[in-house]
Amino acid sequence: MSARIIDGKTIAASIRDDIREQVAERTASGRAAPGLAVVLVGDGAASSVYVRMKRRDCAEVGFVSQDYDLPAATTQAELLALIDTLNANPATHGILVQLPLPEHIDENAVIERIDPAKDVDGFHPRNVGRLVLRLPGLRSCTPHGVMTLLKRAEVPLEGAHAVVIGQSNIVGRPMALELLNARCTVTICHSRTRDLQSEVERADILVAAVGRTEFVPGAWIKPGAAVIDVGINRLDDGRLVGDVDYAGARERAGWITPVPGGVGPLTRATLLENTIEAAEALDG
Ligand code: GUN
Repeated sequence: MSARIIDGKTIAASIRDDIREQVAERTASGRAAPGLAVVLVGDGAASSVYVRMKRRDCAEVGFVSQDYDLPAATTQAELLALIDTLNANPATHGILVQLPLPEHIDENAVIERIDPAKDVDGFHPRNVGRLVLRLPGLRSCTPHGVMTLLKRAEVPLEGAHAVVIGQSNIVGRPMALELLNARCTVTICHSRTRDLQSEVERADILVAAVGRTEFVPGAWIKPGAAVIDVGINRLDDGRLVGDVDYAGARERAGWITPVPGGVGPLTRATLLENTIEAAEALDG
């Protein structure tokens, strides 16, 4: 069997088309275009690339991208003061502070300072708590985007055995909750998991978010499984590869996401969805 390829690029493009229409409706009725503040502290290479893409996405759908590029030496107090200003600005509907932050800044303090109604990353404890409790709220972009991919690909979710590799706040934990909320039976694996292979072999849905090149061998994939690869790892020759051995997994899986072109585009499209959702909730 050769897996169906879940084409994140095409799905993300159709989401952007819908959002562009919603923005046009807002502005036609005299309301402001959604404003997204994207804050970058320092000039880490990967973060700079991601931030540039997020800002470009904003422009493409008609959002106002509010750009804050701060020096690496910015103090925590200065960053918190900027967040207070953005929280109070009615033209700012979403606030995204790109992570990781320089070591002298407490990330949790920064996340908690963001108004939960403008927390388009879905990282604020209030929004994470709402996800735990199955209450509506802003949901973390990568896991929320993965659910969009699974639903658009019509992967059966109810009762499926989902295995998440990775327990980060950004992906692994909210991913497991999303799958649980979709009525999957969920196992979370991490670096201390005793027998990763046997866990993966039981997965109807595998989400790999480890950050290690081709960490999951194709031979571990259950025939017919949905394989969602969140990893983006750069090889010495410049190529990007995921956390799963794509060529091997593709022979066994029922569905698989490519890297690049799978989950990444959905993370960015979901940020746009969250921003327009925040704008609608904030000023109707
Ligand atoms: N760094 C890596 N992924 C993300 C993300 O989704 N949001 C933010 N703010 N920073 C990140």
